[in-house]
Amino acid sequence: MKKTIVLGVSSSIAAYKSAQLTSDLLKLGYDVEVIMTRHATQLIQPLTFSALTHHKTYVDTFDRQVNYDIEHISLAHKADAFIAAPATANLIAKLAAGLADDMLTTTFLAADCPKFIAPAMNTAMLNNPATQANLQTLAARGIQIIHSASGRLACGDTGAGKLASLTDIIAALSTQLESQASLAGRRVLISAGPTREAIDPVRFISNPSSGRMGYALARQARLMGAEVTLVSGPVELTPPPAVRVIPVVTAAEMAQALKQEYARADLVFMAAAVADYYLPQPAGSKIKKAESMLTLTLSRTEDILAWMGDHKTHQKLCGFAMETENLLANARQKFERKHCDLLVANDLTEAGAGFGHDTNAVSLISRQSVRKLPLQSKDAVARQLLLALEAL
Ligand code: CTP
Repeated sequence: MKKTIVLGVSSSIAAYKSAQLTSDLLKLGYDVEVIMTRHATQLIQPLTFSALTHHKTYVDTFDRQVNYDIEHISLAHKADAFIAAPATANLIAKLAAGLADDMLTTTFLAADCPKFIAPAMNTAMLNNPATQANLQTLAARGIQIIHSASGRLACGDTGAGKLASLTDIIAALSTQLESQASLAGRRVLISAGPTREAIDPVRFISNPSSGRMGYALARQARLMGAEVTLVSGPVELTPPPAVRVIPVVTAAEMAQALKQEYARADLVFMAAAVADYYLPQPAGSKIKKAESMLTLTLSRTEDILAWMGDHKTHQKLCGFAMETENLLANARQKFERKHCDLLVANDLTEAGAGFGHDTNAVSLISRQSVRKLPLQSKDAVARQLLLALEAL
């Protein structure tokens, strides 16, 4: 059956490109339904889209000319993917706030399918902390941002804010739509976030891992039909829907939870930044400051990934390596030492990669090859990792 893409068009000058996008998606065999904001209709006629899609183009939530279904709900149900392209700063702000004051925002809020946003606006508006915060809010909810390109903008400025190329937009959509359900029947086990090792009752040793890569893996694995268990250190993220979450704090708790789940798992992703050292004897009461030096005695934690590598039965195992130098050589050593099937090497010196970003630039190391992926959203990276490990 044909898959339906709902395309939301808002009032950026790039709205004219949405007509070409519609035509390209139709040629690829997708059904396309278009919803416009009222302001967008001043830039391009709804009729242009209707002529291409052979459907009514929706603008007003309360338009009842065609049928008496609750249209925003029926469109939301019908959508296999929803993309807002171009998305203005105003639309992005409304979607981040969960507003539903027209057909586009109402349908977006009601839709439960994979969602995408392709921003297009002036560089200063894009770089404004308000827009950046809204994009981060949306990304943290699993909405995939197809980042804008740099170039000459309609306002005459040159900089970021140009709608991503139609090729990139179509690639993001089709990768999502064609990989759906390809993990049906698979059990995926994922670790995410940092661990905390107590020094005393009010202090701990930890690291800045946000958990975003692991949560993106969990969300995408679920969207692809897998049964997902996420063992998560302390993070500030909302777990994706329909994923079993086991919260842990210390490396030892994480090891215990993962070992218990390991035998049932088919694909395993060790995205957590597990502490390498812990205090075997944390102080029972708060340590008071005294001399100028404080010496803590640390012991090695168990290497969970290495344990998994040694106890493999049928599992496919993906490890992560963060490096600041000799990326590929160090990562290759880890791959061998921990008996991984795939190792994701993360260069911490690269802009937009690693801790706390919504994007990641990684190299995938397998026995046969090393493949560098372009800088893209953690959700897009996650899908490729899932497909790569499953393909092994
Ligand atoms: N890992 C683990 N158990 C630990 C430490 C790390 O399972 N106690 C996993 C991580 O989840 C990650 C991979 O091992 O998948 C990272 O390897 P590691 O050797 O810890 O990398 P670094 O911490 O970067 O180590 P090194 O100091 O050797 O570079």
